[in-house]
Amino acid sequence: MSKKENMIEELEELQKRAEAELVSLNSEANLQRWKTAYLGHSSALMQVFKRLPEAPLEMRPEVGQHANQVKAALETHFESRSMEIRQAALQQNLQQEKQDVTLPGRVPPCGRLHITTVVLREIYRIFAEMGFQVYRSPEVESDVNNFELLNIPAHHPARDLWDTFFIKTEGVVLRTHTSPGQIRAMREFAPEPIRVVLPGMCYRYEQTDASHEFQFNQVELLAVGKRITFANLKGTLEEFAQRMYGEGVRTRIRPSYFPFVEPGGEMDVECFVCGGKGCPVCKRRGWLEILGCGMVHPVVLRNGGYDPEVYSGFAAGMGPERITMLRYRIDDIRNFWANDVRFLEQF
Ligand code: DAH
Repeated sequence: MSKKENMIEELEELQKRAEAELVSLNSEANLQRWKTAYLGHSSALMQVFKRLPEAPLEMRPEVGQHANQVKAALETHFESRSMEIRQAALQQNLQQEKQDVTLPGRVPPCGRLHITTVVLREIYRIFAEMGFQVYRSPEVESDVNNFELLNIPAHHPARDLWDTFFIKTEGVVLRTHTSPGQIRAMREFAPEPIRVVLPGMCYRYEQTDASHEFQFNQVELLAVGKRITFANLKGTLEEFAQRMYGEGVRTRIRPSYFPFVEPGGEMDVECFVCGGKGCPVCKRRGWLEILGCGMVHPVVLRNGGYDPEVYSGFAAGMGPERITMLRYRIDDIRNFWANDVRFLEQF
């Protein structure tokens, strides 16, 4: 046998062996190993190409051609086997990982309004029906608006009622209540009549505990005009209580002191937990305090630009977090701004 025939036979042997092996393979990894062994740089086939220049001139074309054919054939077979294996793997996956289309989808978490916002909006709605508009005023206030013009002079002991956050700029405070909004509204609208609700965040330098928080909302109520009487105040608050706490709820107004009203009072509603009999929620009193109120003090009216001989007005201030706590029996005010979704999601 000539050297040429020898080489060709060798190539045919090689092809047969490679193809026989290929059909028995059934994984991607084995396939890659096969490729390295039969088509890689140091494979027997590649050696044939490398040795070709050393072969006698007349046999080079035929051997070379043959080697190319073998190479092309092996590559084609490799591709189709590789495709088969991938198909088989896919089929197997589809079999094993059947989609269960009856499984309910995952509901994306959905945000909601903060419970205080909900209650605030309820308060706005009730007062809107009685002709009150929302009037917003700043949380950073002047000492003058927060105290002085509300008839609380510097060094007056009444200032002790509000533990205040003072800031480095003299004469500027974080408002301790929404009452300074009364001054702003009056100064904007005088001498026109006013009916506004003044909502928003207030701040106090408090030792926090279950019933004290250093930030909380208030809603202030203010009506100014001619011939506004205590009866109007009582009627308005009574109507509010009926709508907020339920038809038929009993209320009372007790005298109390606030420097910016005269006379001043506090309004209680009958405890809706025990119906007035006395329980831990109302601390056995049968009544729950819900707001402070009174007739706008003549000094405050004048500071707002209204002549107290001609005009009168009433005001009230309430805490929506407190209302919410009573309604939902929340026992710790710190929950409102602790940002724990487990709390917030309940409403
Ligand atoms: N500003 C008072 C406070 O924060 C609450 C208050 C009481 C507001 C009586 C009023 C009022 O308008 O008439 O304690």
